[in-house]
Amino acid sequence: MIAEARLEDGTEAIIWPLLPEDREAVREGYERLSPDARYHRFLASVPHLTDALLDHLVDGVDGVDHVALALVSIDADHVGVPVGVARVIRYEQQPTAADVAVTVFDEWQGRGVATALLDELMRQRPAGVTELVTTITADNEASLAMLRRLGTVSVTPAGINHLDVVVDLTTPPPGRAPDATASPEPPEEPEAGDL
Ligand SMILES: CC(C)(COP(=O)(O)OP(=O)(O)OC[C@H]1O[C@@H](n2cnc3c(N)ncnc32)[C@H](O)[C@@H]1OP(=O)(O)O)[C@@H](O)C(=O)NCCC(=O)NCCS
Repeated sequence: MIAEARLEDGTEAIIWPLLPEDREAVREGYERLSPDARYHRFLASVPHLTDALLDHLVDGVDGVDHVALALVSIDADHVGVPVGVARVIRYEQQPTAADVAVTVFDEWQGRGVATALLDELMRQRPAGVTELVTTITADNEASLAMLRRLGTVSVTPAGINHLDVVVDLTTPPPGRAPDATASPEPPEEPEAGDL
C-alpha cells in the first residue's frame, strides 16, 4: 500500500513497501550511515549488513508478520530520494507484540521522517498487534521520543546502557486524543499483493 506524506518542513514524500529489489539499496544505504546511527540501530557494532542480515531485513519482509516501509522524499525536480526505512516484526512467541526499528539517514534526521514512517507503519502493522516491545540504547532520546508518540510507554533499564521499551498501542500517549494508530486493530490489513 503506497501512501503520501508531508514532512514537518513541507517536503512531500511517498511511503511504500520495501521490496526484494531494494536489497542493494538497503545494503548501500547502511554504508552511508554514521557509526553512531549504525550502533543505535543494532545496539552493537555492525559495520556492514551481511547477506544473512539482508535476508532477514529484505527477503524476510512478508507484509503480514513483518512489514517494512521506505520513505522517499520528492525533491524540487520531482525526483525521489530514499531517506528512511521502518519495520515492525511480530514476535512468534507473543503474537500481539512486535519489535519496531527505524533508520533515517543522518542528514535527514530531526525533520519528521520517522514520525511520518511510523504513523503509516502503525496503520499497516500486523493484524492483532497491540504493543511494541523493543530495546534501545539509553542515550537514544530520538528513538524514545518517536516511540512516545505512538502510545503509552513504559521504560525499564536493561543492563548497562540499554532500555527496554513497551508501547501500548491501545492507549493514546498523554496529551494526545485517540486516533487510528491507537486502535487495538489496524483499520486495514495489508493485501497479499502489496509486497
Ligand atoms: C531514531 C531516528 C529513527 C529518529 O528519526 P527522525 O526522523 O530523526 O525522527 P523525527 O524527526 O520524526 O522525530 C521524532 C521525535 O524525536 C525527536 N528527536 C529527533 N531527533 C532528536 C534528537 N537528536 N534528540 C532528541 N530528540 C530528537 C523529535 O523531536 C520527535 O519528538 P517529538 O514528536 O516529541 O517532537 C533517527 O534518529 C535514526 O535513524 N537514528 C539511528 C538509528 C536508530 O537509532 N534507530 C532507532 C532504534 S531501531
